[in-house]
Amino acid sequence: MMNKKSVKDVDVKGKKVLVRCDFNVPMKDGAITDENRINGALPTIKYLLDNGAKVTLCSHMGKPHSIFSDEVKLNKKDKKKVEAGETTKEAIIEKAKKDEPKKLTLAPVAKRLNELLGGKVAFASDVVGADAKAKRDALKNGEAVLLENLRFHWEEEGKEENFCKALAYDAEIFVNDAFGTAHRSHASTAAIVEYGIVKTAVCGFLIEKELEVMAATLENPPRPFVAILGGAKVADKLNVISNLLDKCDTLIIGGGMAYTFLKAKGYEVGQSLLDEEKIQYCKDMMEKAAKAGKELLLPIDTVVTTHFPEPIDGAIETEIVPSDKIPADKMGMDIGEKTRKLYADKVKSAKAVIWNGPMGVFENPTLAKGTIAVAQALADVYGKCTTIIGGGDSAAAVQQLGFADKVTHISTGGGASLELFEGKVLPGIACLNDK
Ligand code: 3PG
Ligand code: MG
Repeated sequence: MMNKKSVKDVDVKGKKVLVRCDFNVPMKDGAITDENRINGALPTIKYLLDNGAKVTLCSHMGKPHSIFSDEVKLNKKDKKKVEAGETTKEAIIEKAKKDEPKKLTLAPVAKRLNELLGGKVAFASDVVGADAKAKRDALKNGEAVLLENLRFHWEEEGKEENFCKALAYDAEIFVNDAFGTAHRSHASTAAIVEYGIVKTAVCGFLIEKELEVMAATLENPPRPFVAILGGAKVADKLNVISNLLDKCDTLIIGGGMAYTFLKAKGYEVGQSLLDEEKIQYCKDMMEKAAKAGKELLLPIDTVVTTHFPEPIDGAIETEIVPSDKIPADKMGMDIGEKTRKLYADKVKSAKAVIWNGPMGVFENPTLAKGTIAVAQALADVYGKCTTIIGGGDSAAAVQQLGFADKVTHISTGGGASLELFEGKVLPGIACLNDK
């Protein structure tokens, strides 16, 4: 996957360049609350502007309805609601048309980009309509325009060919720098190249950097190589667990998914989160680890509570119990103190660590201690060990807890980095020109 051409391998001067970014940033009341993905995209955009390209930027934001398409398509959730008689298709569409142009517009991103790039970024209020065309036509060398949310068209996810053509418009070069969306096969991430509409297709610096660190570590890890997996569900990480077991020396499990493993060991897990259907899978993985001589670590002690905190960051009473003694009426919420030390010691003896998924309910200060301990352990080995944080919740946790500048790499892609950890080929990268 690393054998792909990058923007540096093509001549961009005076060229019309379409760049797919992942500007799907968290927003609250119209304000961007986390700029990492915007900052991540800047090196490529700056390079293109400085080198005299005419740049059209595009991205999705959230999961809107296709309010710009001739036909608004409902998603599965909506369809169920309509079938259950809870609402009507018309009501859903009316609400989407009213709310989404304000809530899921990329206008705030364009505004921020324009500030960061010295007034060189315009915004088009549509994707393939009159405004987009006019603004693309008007681009001078070293100028950019950001198109409105791609997913206001169902044709984006539907990979509809005419939409791909309209999106490409007059582009001579396609640059994919949307690492966070590289695991999706959509019009703007892959089809535009797969259909042969834009032939010159290269990656941007963000994708290059993400691959350089993550794919390289997975392919040829410095050892000992420790993988830490947390998060709620085993089901979400099935192939990740199996693939990482092949690659790493030690696999550490925490978070909600640990309880299914503990259950598979025959322990009582009380009211803890449990993937009943995945107990056998956990048994298989423990057997796989044992056969391959790999270490698979589970929490030896557990922080338990009587209920889930409400609100999530509200006060909560806790107790620490050995992991084989979780009371039947309690639920595991974080790794215990002994486990924190065990996991931290493992990190300290590693040469490479990848981490995806929090160790507990880190949104709550009382239940964040396990996640903090792991983040602290990573920070302690900074400079001596390659430390990689898969995106999503663990990236948010590391940032929120103030450890962001003490790790080698924080990925801008949650789902995308997980698929990389699964050993999958990402469609947004596979479609690009080989070197
Ligand atoms: C993400 O935030 O996960 C990416 O932007 C991809 O978005 P999606 O999961 O809605 O496809
Ligand atoms: Mg996602």
